Amino acid sequence: MTSVDLPTSAVEADDGLASSIDGSLRASLKRSEQIEADLEVHPERYRMLTGDRPTGKLHLGHYFGSLANRVRLQNLGLDSWVLIADYQVIYDRDGVGDLKANVFSAIADYLAVGIDPQRSTIFAHSAIAPLNQLLLPFLSLVTDSELRRNPTVKDELANSDRPMSGLMLTFPVHQAADILFCKANVVPVGKDQLPHLELTRLIARRFDERYGRAEKDRPIFPFADALLSSAPNILGLDGNKMSKSRGNVIELGMTAQQTAKLIKKAKTDSDRHITFDPQNRPEVSNLLMLAGLATGEDPVQIAEEIGDGGGGGLKKLVTEALNEHLAPIRERRAELVADQGYLVEVLRDGNAKADEVATQTLSEVRKAMQMDY
Ligand code: TRP
Repeated sequence: MTSVDLPTSAVEADDGLASSIDGSLRASLKRSEQIEADLEVHPERYRMLTGDRPTGKLHLGHYFGSLANRVRLQNLGLDSWVLIADYQVIYDRDGVGDLKANVFSAIADYLAVGIDPQRSTIFAHSAIAPLNQLLLPFLSLVTDSELRRNPTVKDELANSDRPMSGLMLTFPVHQAADILFCKANVVPVGKDQLPHLELTRLIARRFDERYGRAEKDRPIFPFADALLSSAPNILGLDGNKMSKSRGNVIELGMTAQQTAKLIKKAKTDSDRHITFDPQNRPEVSNLLMLAGLATGEDPVQIAEEIGDGGGGGLKKLVTEALNEHLAPIRERRAELVADQGYLVEVLRDGNAKADEVATQTLSEVRKAMQMDY
């Protein structure tokens, strides 16, 4: 996932888009907190959908930042959908590497961390024809200028060495189809995805206004809200943003030895007294946070325990904490990877279920549009 710095200036928008991005972030946070409280009481009210681009192996940033939360939500009893956004990989590059291997590696990661195919539908959006067909009516509901000012798209364009492709400009509309085809109403994402959620709500509303309903008293599409996770932002081992391209990640599927080796090389600082101080000691604090996430302990407490143990003491502790926490996940992952037939079956079952739901939604859409011949 990419992150963007949300502009602080007021951004005037004509038709329902937020009038101030800042205000909109605050509103989204508040709404997200309210939903979070209600989820525990009424999990049956929610259908959750979220997903990843299959660009490579999933790492600790994905795990602590989002996968663990998905498992928690699934276990609360939400109807869960996990999307592999394979079409989102192709818009800014010619070659995508071994896409198929990435897809099955992601599925192995999902299952290994506890996403349960009995309770979560795992599917790839390229395989769902009726989902993709929603793109056409949805495209009729947005303007060129609305698409061009999406800050996340702008940010991705800036980080790409290719010109804006038609797909890149419109991928947030396709993302709205990802969310709306199954009528998901909660979408756990990072704040970089908020512009897409806002567009999704706009499309749902405009569809209702312009094309009407399949049944008189009920709009076809719900309003989907973001669930903004409270997970801390995890840095890579060099103190920069954790990303595969920087080579600073620990992948879920790495061995304990590989993990130890990487942590040994991690950046720390020269103060032997370990303290949790994210402002002034980002690298040390990041390692403490990883240890905290792995053990469930408070990073401040962990720092006190290490005391004057220095970078060496810290690294030893983080390595042990992570390897211990990840051991069962890795063991299960290795079993899954050895059974490709099962991974294929999980994806085919998920695709079949997604296709059924998308077909139903598309038929409602066609009815509302008077195209149900
Ligand atoms: N854009 C998301 C990302 O970059 C992936 C994604 C695609 C997604 N479709 C989605 C996330 C629908 C949530 C809902 O990570």
